Amino acid sequence: MNSDSAKPMVESVEVSPSLPDVPGAQVGPDVFRQLLRQAVRVADLANAQATRMALDFAEVYRREQRARDEVDANLRQMSLMEKQATRYAEDLAQMLHNERERRHELERALEQERVANEELRRTGLQGISHLLLAATIKDQTTGSHLLRVRRYVEAIAERLGMPGELVEEFGYSSVMHDVGKIHTPDHILQSEHHLSTEEFEVIKQHCIDGETMLGEARFFETARAIAREHHERWDGKGYPDGKAGKDISLAARIVSVADVFDALTSKRPYKDAWSIATGLASVESGAGKQFDPDVVAAFRALHDDGSIERIRAEVAAASD
Ligand SMILES: [Fe+2]
Ligand SMILES: [Fe+2]
Repeated sequence: MNSDSAKPMVESVEVSPSLPDVPGAQVGPDVFRQLLRQAVRVADLANAQATRMALDFAEVYRREQRARDEVDANLRQMSLMEKQATRYAEDLAQMLHNERERRHELERALEQERVANEELRRTGLQGISHLLLAATIKDQTTGSHLLRVRRYVEAIAERLGMPGELVEEFGYSSVMHDVGKIHTPDHILQSEHHLSTEEFEVIKQHCIDGETMLGEARFFETARAIAREHHERWDGKGYPDGKAGKDISLAARIVSVADVFDALTSKRPYKDAWSIATGLASVESGAGKQFDPDVVAAFRALHDDGSIERIRAEVAAASD
């Protein structure tokens, strides 16, 4: 309640308690009764006024209280939100930290694996050179035959569009194709006369022995396939298993071409070296019979672009 609405009521109270304006009149019981009635009316008015004011004040107080409560609630809510935001930011920071830690751990693990793989590879390659040393001492095949076969194999695999890693794997695996000959008796291996059926059976064994010697390691998986299958033929008339076509691993089909071509074009105790042209013609006549025609076609393309000649020259220069 405002002060404007209270004003007229107070003014009306001021006017009321005057004596009756009657000349010569005595102050009698009627006047007292009238005054008393006026006094009661004034008191009632004042009472009603006070009650209204009290109610108004109560209402105003309630409203203020409600507003204050609302403000308090808002403040509490805001402080809660602030706490949540802080916690969220802290959690986020912790997550980022953990993530960084995990990444570092992963990098460390990858690095360890890389080192372990490198070690494994070095050990594998060391194993190869020991095997080759044993094989070249025993057999009359030379280190340069193995080197040429490796280079031919890599060039063919590349020409066939194989990925670099596989090209490399085929290359290092190819040098072990005859590693099983360590078990073949010298008199058969170095025989210059035509082999008897029994002797030929012994020769065949070098494929199986080679596969066995190369153990179980993943590193030698391709080398095992090559050792086992490099005397198989596309038409199924090879040894030791008589596999045909694409049942023979691609690595072995490639080595077969490279190995035969190099044997033909190298001097051996029982024969002179053939020319490149004669060697290539012989390989090409075997396409679809002894050899995979696609591999022969790739080899032909390598001959035509001068790669075969270049590889022979480079290996010859390296072994001088
Ligand atoms: Fe062989
Ligand atoms: Fe060979």
